[in-house]
Amino acid sequence: MPSTAAPVVIDLKFNAGEVQAALADAFPGRDVINRADPAQAGRDLSQARYAVVWKSQPDLFDRAPNLAAVFSGGAGVDHVLTLPGLPDVPLVRFVDPTLTTRMSEWVVLQCLLHLRQHVAYEAQARRGVWAELPQPEARDLTVGVMGLGVLGQDAARKLKMMGFTVAGWSRRPKTIEGIETYDESGLDAFLARTDLLVGLLPLTAETRGLFDAALFAKLSRKGPFGAPVFINAGRGGSQVEADIVAAVRSGVLHGASLDVFSTEPLDADSPLWTLPNVIVTPHAAAASDIRALFRHVETQIERHEKGLPFEHLVDRTAGY
Ligand SMILES: NC(=O)c1ccc[n+]([C@@H]2O[C@H](COP(=O)([O-])OP(=O)(O)OC[C@H]3O[C@@H](n4cnc5c(N)ncnc54)[C@H](OP(=O)(O)O)[C@@H]3O)[C@@H](O)[C@H]2O)c1
Repeated sequence: MPSTAAPVVIDLKFNAGEVQAALADAFPGRDVINRADPAQAGRDLSQARYAVVWKSQPDLFDRAPNLAAVFSGGAGVDHVLTLPGLPDVPLVRFVDPTLTTRMSEWVVLQCLLHLRQHVAYEAQARRGVWAELPQPEARDLTVGVMGLGVLGQDAARKLKMMGFTVAGWSRRPKTIEGIETYDESGLDAFLARTDLLVGLLPLTAETRGLFDAALFAKLSRKGPFGAPVFINAGRGGSQVEADIVAAVRSGVLHGASLDVFSTEPLDADSPLWTLPNVIVTPHAAAASDIRALFRHVETQIERHEKGLPFEHLVDRTAGY
């Protein structure tokens, strides 16, 4: 018997095999149209009520004009807000412990790699050099987390647990136990005490190009390495890559860890690949777990169909 539940369309540029496998037991009793499946490519989308998207096909909203909600396949929504024809319906982003945990692992790892001078030790090991480097403690460095949302707050707490001194900055004021927080007006004071700067900001009109030479020049130079480190896993559009390159070359920055770039994949010719003390990862800090994504979408649809509000709604004016 055909399902009477409102259909959901999946338009995800993720690993097609993983999406297919996760769909096998997702959305029970509901018609699912997976646009990545060639067998379903020509299907009528006019009755679809929900869409799950990540870099979706440009004709999605023309072909699915009756959507009640759009779900982002990731925590960020900059890629959704710029989709042609995005309807004026609730936009829900992905928030899940699997994603938060992965991001905090990456952030803590990068802070520890810089604290423990891992790049320098690796270089020494390749040359067969046995030499101990100075060992500052985590508490000797202040990690400044820019963006105290779901991801920034979890990372800040875990950095604190590792012994770092932690400060945080967000648009609106926040109170987080054990962490000194600053709002928009406190940016300069926040930067002046930050030795390891962690970017976990969404890409919006306000954050585009924020991490530039002028900002790097305001960071603390009083830490154990004499210059700050920039760590970014928010969005590449928030950083000026030419300024990062120049700052590392001139010593304004001691190093960097970058997971996101203004153009992805990062160009093979980019100097960032080979700069000293710069760690590059391929937008892999916190991948969306596809099964968890579908569970989250199911939960939100269930809430909506019971008359409850969606959680994790995007504020379109703020852009995140
Ligand atoms: N690299 C990866 O693998 C990966 C994976 C997932 C997500 N991400 C990125 O991480 C970002 C953050 O995710 P989230 O879940 O933590 O987002 P979130 O919960 O929406 O938090 C965003 C934080 O940024 C702050 N913020 C936004 N605009 C600001 C501005 N102009 N000035 C100061 N603070 C500003 C917000 O301030 P308020 O608290 O005052 O609102 C909030 O604290 C995502 O948008 C995405 O781009 C990357």
